[in-house]
Amino acid sequence: MLRHFLQFKDLSRSELIYLFERTRVIKTRFKRYQPYHPLTDRTLAMIFEKSSTRTRLSFEAGMHQLGGSAIYLNTRDTQLGRGEPVEDAGEVISRMVDIVMIRTFEQDIIERFAAHSRVPVINGLTNEYHPCQILADIFTFIEHHGSIQGKTVAWVGDSNNMCNTWLQAAEVLDFNVHVSTPPGYEVEPERAGLYGTDHFESFADPMDACRGADLVTTDVWTSMGWEAENDERLKDFADWQVDAEMMGVAKSDAVFMHCLPAHRGEEVTAEVIDGPQSVVWDEAENRLHVQKALMEFLLLGKVES
Ligand code: CP
Ligand code: NVA
Repeated sequence: MLRHFLQFKDLSRSELIYLFERTRVIKTRFKRYQPYHPLTDRTLAMIFEKSSTRTRLSFEAGMHQLGGSAIYLNTRDTQLGRGEPVEDAGEVISRMVDIVMIRTFEQDIIERFAAHSRVPVINGLTNEYHPCQILADIFTFIEHHGSIQGKTVAWVGDSNNMCNTWLQAAEVLDFNVHVSTPPGYEVEPERAGLYGTDHFESFADPMDACRGADLVTTDVWTSMGWEAENDERLKDFADWQVDAEMMGVAKSDAVFMHCLPAHRGEEVTAEVIDGPQSVVWDEAENRLHVQKALMEFLLLGKVES
């Protein structure tokens, strides 16, 4: 059966548990320089309508390491930038490659592409979600602290694609998210694709969101696509900077995460992101390993080797 990964809840709890275990196997093998080529002769198309460093590198390197090849496409150099319907692009591109990754604007664009695709489609970030990043973040949490079930994640800042995806993940994997956003930037449960509000709580004061948390995380104040609001956001988010005081009220062994790229002195202080509780480099590296496990799962299903 054709499977896509367009939002976090496209994978079930048991599939995610499999995927995290599989990631561990693939990562260990990679660290030992053991070749593993289950995707020989398979081709990944990567379509970017927004900038990227980590997503492009991790998908492209990951596909090569699995024995396949990857093709980079962007809006500027393709007919997508000249108004070719996304449905037509889905029909054509999916006849030529085995799997597709897309980074674009509205979630609706990737949904429409997937509806016309013969091959699995992976969300490499939309305005609404960033599910591959949350796979990497949760795998990183598991590496440091074990299962995330029942734990508390503090989200400080914008209720953006990262925040929405944390909230979805909390429902699937049964943990809690304490969210603190400035007034006017609150979570929209429908846009986040939530079933209910059981797994998240909102706090006016970011210190209260961080109190007792196992993980404190944030993201840029201005996401790609919102650049026109940058000056206003700098003022609105000034009190939502993750600093040592916020980390100080979280659990003593709490980790700090940021999907990167980061702006030191805006959403996080240098002291925190470069400090001992920060796991941001592990988080970035783990994009490679989880996405290799994800591509293997979408193309081959569950494997034993
Ligand atoms: N975190 C992340 O997705 O980074 P890039 O924008 O560099 O891909
Ligand atoms: N929320 C950010 C994440 C970048 C990886 C953005 O969408 O720009």
